[in-house]
Amino acid sequence: MIISASTDYRAAAQAKLPPFLFHYIDGGAYAEHTLKRNTEDLSHIELRQRVLKDMSELNLETSLFGEKMSMPVALAPVGLSGMYARRGEVQAARAAAKKGIPFTLSTLSICPIEEVASAIERPIWFQLYVLKDRGFMRNVLERAEAAGVKNLVFTVDMPVPGARYRDAHSGMSGPNASIRRFLQVITHPQWAWDVGLMGKPHDLGNISKYRGIPTKLGDYIGWLGNNFDPSISWKDLEWIRDCWKGQMIIKGILDPDDAKDAVRFGADGIVVSNHGGRQLDGVLSTARALPTIADAVKNDTTILVDSGIRTGLDVVRMIALGADSVLLGRAFAFALAAAGEAGVSNLLDLIDKEIRVAMTLTGAKSIAEINLDLLVDN
Ligand code: FNR
Ligand code: LAC
Repeated sequence: MIISASTDYRAAAQAKLPPFLFHYIDGGAYAEHTLKRNTEDLSHIELRQRVLKDMSELNLETSLFGEKMSMPVALAPVGLSGMYARRGEVQAARAAAKKGIPFTLSTLSICPIEEVASAIERPIWFQLYVLKDRGFMRNVLERAEAAGVKNLVFTVDMPVPGARYRDAHSGMSGPNASIRRFLQVITHPQWAWDVGLMGKPHDLGNISKYRGIPTKLGDYIGWLGNNFDPSISWKDLEWIRDCWKGQMIIKGILDPDDAKDAVRFGADGIVVSNHGGRQLDGVLSTARALPTIADAVKNDTTILVDSGIRTGLDVVRMIALGADSVLLGRAFAFALAAAGEAGVSNLLDLIDKEIRVAMTLTGAKSIAEINLDLLVDN
C-alpha cells in the first residue's frame, strides 16, 4: 500500500477495520460539533507566506523535559491500540522511537507497560487515568517507574466518559453489541486473522496485570463508566505527585484558569486538549483555546496541544499559536490500523516533510522561529 499524504490513512483504516473499531477511533461526542471544529478552526489559521530567505537549511529538532526530539511531535495516548494492529502499542512505539520522538502509552492499552517499554530503547511516556481502585494507581506508578518512564501524562478531562452516540450505533456498545461485533469480525478476515487471532491476548494489559485476571473487553464502554472516578480533584494530583518522582504533564486543559491552576500546582507541562472532541461537544476547538492559554502561562510551563492535528502544516499552525509541541491521536491510530509500524513510520516521514514545506514557505528556519509573527491575524 502506497500512501502519499498524511490524510490518506483514514480511508485505508476504514477499509481494514471492523466498523466498531473504526468508529470508536473516528467518532466524537454527541453531534460531533467540537470534533469537526477542531479540524475546521485549525484549517482557518492563516500563515504569512515569506520568500527569498535561503531556506536550504532547516532544523526541526527540539527538546521537551530534557528529552531530544527530531521534530515537535509526540504520539498521544490512544486506548485499545492493540486492537487496531497486532500488538499495536509495540508497533507504534517502535515507529516513534525510530523517528526520534516520544510514544505515550495509555492506561487503557492492550499491551502492558513492560511489553512496550522493553521493545524500545527510548523511555516511553505513560498516561494515567484515575480509577476508583486507587490500589491500581499505586501499582501502575511503581511499574512505570521500574520500566524507565520519566514523563507521566495525567489525563484530567475524563472523570466520566463522553456520550459517544457512534459507539452505540456501531456495535462498540448498545443492543446486541457482541453479536454485531462478531458479524463484523468475520466479514473482515484479514483483521480477524492478523489482529483478532494472532494479536491476542486482547485485554487491558495494565489492569489485568494488577488484578491477576484478564480484564474482559466485552463491555468496554460500560467498563469505563463503572471504573472511572468522577470525584477526581487537585487533591488526587497532589497524592500522585507525592508518589511520582518524574515529570508530571496534565492533559485535558482547555481553559486559561485551569492552566493557571496547573502552573500553581507545579505541573511540568500541560496538554491543551478537548480529547479530540470525544468528551463535551460544544467546547472550544483547541486552535481557538490555545492562544488565550498561551498568553496566560507560556512563560511558566511547557505547552503541548492536540485535537484535530492531521498534517505537518497543522503542526506548524499550532506552534505558531503558542504550543511548544503537539501530540497526534487519530492521525497515528489510522496509520497503525492501515499498515502497522511501517504505516506509522511513513506517516511520521510525511508529517516531517509537510513541516519542512510549511517552514520553508513561512521563512522559519527552526522551531523557535515558528511563532506569532507567522500568523496573518496576530
Ligand atoms: C483517545 N484519547 C485518549 N487520551 C488519553 O489520555 N487516554 C486514552 O486512553 C485515550 N484513548 C483514546 C482513544 C482513541 C481511539 C482516540 C481517538 C483518542 C485522546 C487522545 O490522547 C488525544 O487527546 C486525541 O486523540 C487528540 O485528538 P485527534 O488528534 O485524534 O484529533
Ligand atoms: C477515549 C478514552 C479511552 O477517548 O480516552 O475513548
